[in-house]
Amino acid sequence: MSKPMQLQDILYTQGFGTRRVCAGLIQQGFVAVAHETIAQAATEFVADGLQFTVQGVDWPYHEKAYVMLHKPMGTECSHKASTWPSIYTLLPPPLRQRPQKGPVQGVQAVGRLDQDTTGLLLLTDDGNFIHRMSSPRHHVPKVYDVTTKHPLDDAQVQKLLAGVVLDDDPKPVRAAACEAVAGHHLRLTLTDGKYHQVKRMLAAVGNRVEGLHRSQIGALALPTDLLPGQWRWLSAADLAALQDKTLQP
Ligand code: URA
Repeated sequence: MSKPMQLQDILYTQGFGTRRVCAGLIQQGFVAVAHETIAQAATEFVADGLQFTVQGVDWPYHEKAYVMLHKPMGTECSHKASTWPSIYTLLPPPLRQRPQKGPVQGVQAVGRLDQDTTGLLLLTDDGNFIHRMSSPRHHVPKVYDVTTKHPLDDAQVQKLLAGVVLDDDPKPVRAAACEAVAGHHLRLTLTDGKYHQVKRMLAAVGNRVEGLHRSQIGALALPTDLLPGQWRWLSAADLAALQDKTLQP
């Protein structure tokens, strides 16, 4: 059990602003714990498991933030998006402002999806987690549902499984699993994450990606009730599912 902390420090760690701003929120009566308004910024609570509300909005304390976002079409994974809105604008300010040791504050995307790719995206302020999930050595499977321009045939599927050479590396990249589920619909599992990898692999077998959706990472599937643009905290079961490297859902 962690040591008790002052409420203003708890709010600060959760991204509600500087300690002074957090103290102000409390003193103005905007913060409640267990339905009781707390007016003293220095009141102490055990942070682990604490549920509080700020201006009526529930906020469960998380030492580290792990969330999933259903990335919608037409959004960029960069902070300073140039052409399309940034995915970070879909998150509440505390997730974007959680204090970090480095120059960039808040949660960061674990890898990137293209502007026209939809689906499951993870974000966290845990640098080790980002490293573990993104490192090619860890082989975390990612499942993509691909809509293709041209009809798929067995030769294309076999080439994707056997390995294709992309323009920036002589070493072939292969799909860990690949199944044509309909004439123009492929389910492809990759364990590495090169730039535009799915699009370039499909181009290498003479086809073209018309639609791309990431439906699963590890054994964690995008929940059907998480609509495009919505986010949610990862549960302990979700985090365990991400460690599961078996390829079947
Ligand atoms: N491969 C791509 O080509 N684009 C993505 O967004 C993800 C994987």
